[in-house]
Amino acid sequence: MNNQLNYIKARTLKQILLLSMLFNLVACNTTKQQSENNTAKEYLGLSHHYKAYFPIGVAVSPRALAGTQAELIRKNFVSMTPENVLKTGPIHPKEDTYNWEPADKIAAFAKANNMKLRGHALLWHNQTPDWLFVDDAGNEVSKEVLLQRLEKHITEVVTRYKNVIYAWDVVNEAISDKPDEFYRNSKWYQICGEEFITKAFEFARAADTDLQLFYNDYEVINPVKREKIYQMVTKLQADGVPIDGVGIQGHWSVFEPSEKVLKETIEQFTGLGLQVQITELDVSIYHKEHSAREKHEDDNDTFTADLKQKQIEQYDMIFRVFRENRDKLSSVTFWNVSDQYSWLDNFPVKNRKDYPLLFDQENKPKDAYWKVVDFD
Ligand code: GLA
Repeated sequence: MNNQLNYIKARTLKQILLLSMLFNLVACNTTKQQSENNTAKEYLGLSHHYKAYFPIGVAVSPRALAGTQAELIRKNFVSMTPENVLKTGPIHPKEDTYNWEPADKIAAFAKANNMKLRGHALLWHNQTPDWLFVDDAGNEVSKEVLLQRLEKHITEVVTRYKNVIYAWDVVNEAISDKPDEFYRNSKWYQICGEEFITKAFEFARAADTDLQLFYNDYEVINPVKREKIYQMVTKLQADGVPIDGVGIQGHWSVFEPSEKVLKETIEQFTGLGLQVQITELDVSIYHKEHSAREKHEDDNDTFTADLKQKQIEQYDMIFRVFRENRDKLSSVTFWNVSDQYSWLDNFPVKNRKDYPLLFDQENKPKDAYWKVVDFD
């Protein structure tokens, strides 16, 4: 009887042991799976992982500085660029009217949170008010008058944010996209010729001798456009114009650039002894188009599993190249905070949803985020 009892006890113990081994095995597999999906890795924020590499920034509107997005910004970024409010139209809508409040708000947030602030942009052909180019009678002003207005604008804006902005995009997008045209045929160019570029840099330097001054443009990965930018910058340097760096905007896609082209693009400018910053990074799920167009039937807004995977791989490659070039890149900035809102939702196609950032529509890190931080 006793023997039988002992036998039953031993069998039950064995069964318990077996069960517990089985349980451990399952538990172990789940943890492994979790870590493969990265849910097991702690969410510490992008900048935590890139501390030893380069500051990571984000383009913001004053609206983003409250609630969930403000938390996301504090957790992930150590630098900001005002998306619109420092552009000439928004900040200087009339000759004697400055609209400082929105930019002041962003500057105060940067200071309060000990973040760097990039200025964008002192001179551009877009979001630029008409008053600059005409007199009271509506006639086009002379080059002298336009340059005087430019000097006043740059001096006022740079001086106001002297203690918080460390770098400015002084001239934005002055090079033409057309292969057979060098400078963009903007109002600035029509009235001043290429001199407006030199003057803008000189005025910015005169207003703040400590500022880092950048030329900023898109499609720098295009070899023809890149060569023009390279020639212009080389000439500016040869003429003693105070330029410190080139901003590569980085409005890219899951289909471009290739690793080879990205490396070449970064190296071409650092070869000139200039700083390079990535100033407006996003990775669209669509093929790149650079002009606005109507939405047509086959424009599909779905972020398919295949596109998600492509985006993960593209972000992985881009940040690997950035890390390899940490001695050449002095900052990387994303253009917008999360997929909740991106300018690409309305460009080039109005009302076509895009998903170009590392955070989803609920402001949570995407798998692409986990890939980008999965190296340290
Ligand atoms: C360009 C400009 C930015 C911004 C984006 C679109 O890249 O430099 O200021 O307007 O287009 O949001």
